[in-house]
Amino acid sequence: MPPPNENSQPVPNPAISIRAAHLNDLPAILALEQTAQSAAHWTADHYQSRLQSQPQSACFLVAERQSAESNSQLCGFLCARIIGTVPAGTASVAEWEIENVVVLQECRRRGIGAALMRALIEEWQEHAGAAVLLEVRESNHAARALYERHGLRETGRRRAYYRDPSEDAILYARYRQP
Ligand SMILES: CC(C)(COP(=O)(O)OP(=O)(O)OC[C@H]1O[C@@H](n2cnc3c(N)ncnc32)[C@H](O)[C@@H]1OP(=O)(O)O)[C@@H](O)C(=O)NCCC(=O)NCCS
Repeated sequence: MPPPNENSQPVPNPAISIRAAHLNDLPAILALEQTAQSAAHWTADHYQSRLQSQPQSACFLVAERQSAESNSQLCGFLCARIIGTVPAGTASVAEWEIENVVVLQECRRRGIGAALMRALIEEWQEHAGAAVLLEVRESNHAARALYERHGLRETGRRRAYYRDPSEDAILYARYRQP
């Protein structure tokens, strides 16, 4: 079986493609994350660890756009860690926790977040993962709408989970159909 996410996947805009993230994407991933206040903020070590633990323990996707000069620019990413074991020959009990998803401000509302989510869900289904999970700030309506459009449903709330500013986390999950 090929490593997950190696194949570019089409998105509505033909100049955008989705592919597995590589270690040399790290500077662009960090720069992009810094532009998004509502994103989760992780250290370089954290991202590096996720990039290096693919495909067994992480699914890390990037969206790339081709410019007129045919240079490519990273315009979005989605990072999930895979928790749990994948017993050979049986259904996986692994849970896929989405840790972060960010799209470059100027590229938002063009289907890139949706393309990243679709690619993640496809990988999760291919690997028969048990659940996709995440938590998000209650006020992050854009992200919550994105998750809901991809079949995730509210499963709970963690009061005052976030700081600066303090805010509840809303928990979301999508479970594999039996
Ligand atoms: C959340 C985010 C990744 C969405 O990316 P995007 O590329 O703009 O999303 P898409 O264009 O693919 O939109 C897909 C769906 O998400 C929802 N959505 C996206 N942005 C939205 C907004 N500003 N308001 C309401 N719904 C929104 C809509 O349902 C949309 O479908 P529609 O366009 O058909 O209505 C982007 O807003 C972002 O990077 N936010 C900052 C980082 C962040 O907060 N990440 C979440 C951390 S947990």
